[in-house]
Amino acid sequence: MSKQIQVSGLDAYYGSHKAIEDVSMTIEPRSITAFIGPSGCGKSTFLRTLNRMHEVIPGARVEGKVLLDGEDLYGPTVAPVSVRRMIGMVFQRPNPFPTMSIYENVAAGLKLNGRVAKSQLDGIVEESLKGANLWNEVKDRLNKPGAGLSGGQQQRLCIARAIAVKPQVLLMDEPCSALDPISTLAIEDLMAKLKDEYTIVIVTHNMQQAARVSDRTAFFNLAEQGKPGKVIEMDETSRMFTNPSQKATEDYITGRFG
Ligand SMILES: Nc1ncnc2c1ncn2[C@@H]1O[C@H](COP(=O)(O)OP(=O)(O)OP(=O)(O)O)[C@@H](O)[C@H]1O
Ligand SMILES: [Mg+2]
Repeated sequence: MSKQIQVSGLDAYYGSHKAIEDVSMTIEPRSITAFIGPSGCGKSTFLRTLNRMHEVIPGARVEGKVLLDGEDLYGPTVAPVSVRRMIGMVFQRPNPFPTMSIYENVAAGLKLNGRVAKSQLDGIVEESLKGANLWNEVKDRLNKPGAGLSGGQQQRLCIARAIAVKPQVLLMDEPCSALDPISTLAIEDLMAKLKDEYTIVIVTHNMQQAARVSDRTAFFNLAEQGKPGKVIEMDETSRMFTNPSQKATEDYITGRFG
């Protein structure tokens, strides 16, 4: 299920503003890749180019290539909705659908896809909630509103919703930044488990988190103020955090930045 992403020469624009420039990288399957870097350097923008969410913003566009196991995600015959199903996304603030029950939240994407018989839904909902480490906490209240869960539970609900459609890649933009330390550890444990099946990319401002969970890390930075963001360095996380090759990376990681 898990697939490799290969990006080459990618630029992303908002109108005439180029937010990121010339990003090339390989994101390996069955691993966690962390994006780190200062605010405004284009981490979220780049993440959204990977599943064609960037272009939903009016005036936003992408140049360059993104390949998923060799298939060009920006190819002329590729439908953005199918890309977004293959490459799921979890956001900074847990965003369960407020009027829907826990069950309906998990089933939402499946119903939209219109390809699952009702009789199968129960099984997939249970499996997804188990996959997101949430089943035991909610199995007796599946018909209660998703919005009634704690922040950490809501985030796991959103992860369950994302994995219910069986994506190949999971993109997570600061998924723990609104959570307490216990919920954060629960999500980190979950990511470690999910990487057996998925290609995972996480944006985080938490250096300990990047060091704890990721296999590889990319450091994004602005070449200069007002210039687009770039990938300064990408490497095995263990090496990046002990022996980065660029001074800017070291300054950022050790908190001497800016
Ligand atoms: N919807 C948008 N319209 C116009 N410009 C945008 C939009 N979203 C982001 N930008 C600009 O693109 C650049 C990169 O922003 P982005 O949100 O990708 O950075 P980031 O690295 O994720 O920052 P943070 O760490 O604060 O989340 C910034 O200059 C930002 O102002
Ligand atoms: Mg961001």
